[in-house]
Amino acid sequence: MKKICIIGAAGKLGKYMVQQTLDRGYDVIAVCRKQSVTKLDDFKNRITIIPGTTNDREVIKRAVSGCDGVLTVLVPWGVQQYSSGTAQAVLDFSEPNARLIFSCGWHISRDGKDIYSWKFKILLKIFGSLARLTHFAELNDQVEACKRIFKSKTNWTVVRGSDLEEGISQGLPVWSRHVGDPILESNLTRRIDFALFMVEALESHDLIHEAPAIVGCQSQSALTYATTKSKPMEL
Ligand SMILES: NC(=O)c1ccc[n+]([C@@H]2O[C@H](COP(=O)([O-])OP(=O)(O)OC[C@H]3O[C@@H](n4cnc5c(N)ncnc54)[C@H](OP(=O)(O)O)[C@@H]3O)[C@@H](O)[C@H]2O)c1
Repeated sequence: MKKICIIGAAGKLGKYMVQQTLDRGYDVIAVCRKQSVTKLDDFKNRITIIPGTTNDREVIKRAVSGCDGVLTVLVPWGVQQYSSGTAQAVLDFSEPNARLIFSCGWHISRDGKDIYSWKFKILLKIFGSLARLTHFAELNDQVEACKRIFKSKTNWTVVRGSDLEEGISQGLPVWSRHVGDPILESNLTRRIDFALFMVEALESHDLIHEAPAIVGCQSQSALTYATTKSKPMEL
């Protein structure tokens, strides 16, 4: 794999992925909104930046052309189908065999078998309602985006992040197919390691058509339950 595209590159997760992909020697194409371009100044001259909204199909078509892999930060901001528009464009225009890695949160369920705590469900409901009322975000659109990805025949992986914190890397997170698995109980991952999982997934065939829910490898639950139930990524 040589050339990859990062969509939503100027956010916190995106910038970690830019650094990690450059460290691995990839040619990096970065898409971010026009007002965010300066956030990528640290990488100037080392990456190609394509400014534009990520649900602009022409922007995405140009950005993913010729790319072996696409890392997409799926965000539910605004009420203009930002997530589903972004996902659809990536699915439609990426090269046929490209590895497509998407980020989202634990609230996305692939098969309905995830088990959520009451606290998680209440917080999600409150945040979702407030966000919709204020037109700040549309969580349902991220759900719609993932439905389309799950149905797609492309080489996709949807990485479902736990709550996030900043800090130096602890290593590759562990994962499970279902929220509710004891190994995920700690519900905390360093954002830099979320990025690491996304980047490592580019080269992992085992993760094709999987929606891993991740948690930090040094979190209490990962250390306690690291048994056969956790499926470490095979590279
Ligand atoms: N935050 C959490 O606790 C958490 C927990 C679990 C999973 N996640 C997942 O992790 C991923 C990254 O989340 P993050 O919190 O770390 O966010 P982030 O990386 O700080 O930002 C994500 C993106 O949001 C875009 N953005 C910001 N405001 C926007 C707006 N008004 N309209 C359109 N785009 C906007 C930015 O795009 P530009 O690059 O164009 O500026 C940026 O790339 C998401 O997929 C999220 O679902 C987050």
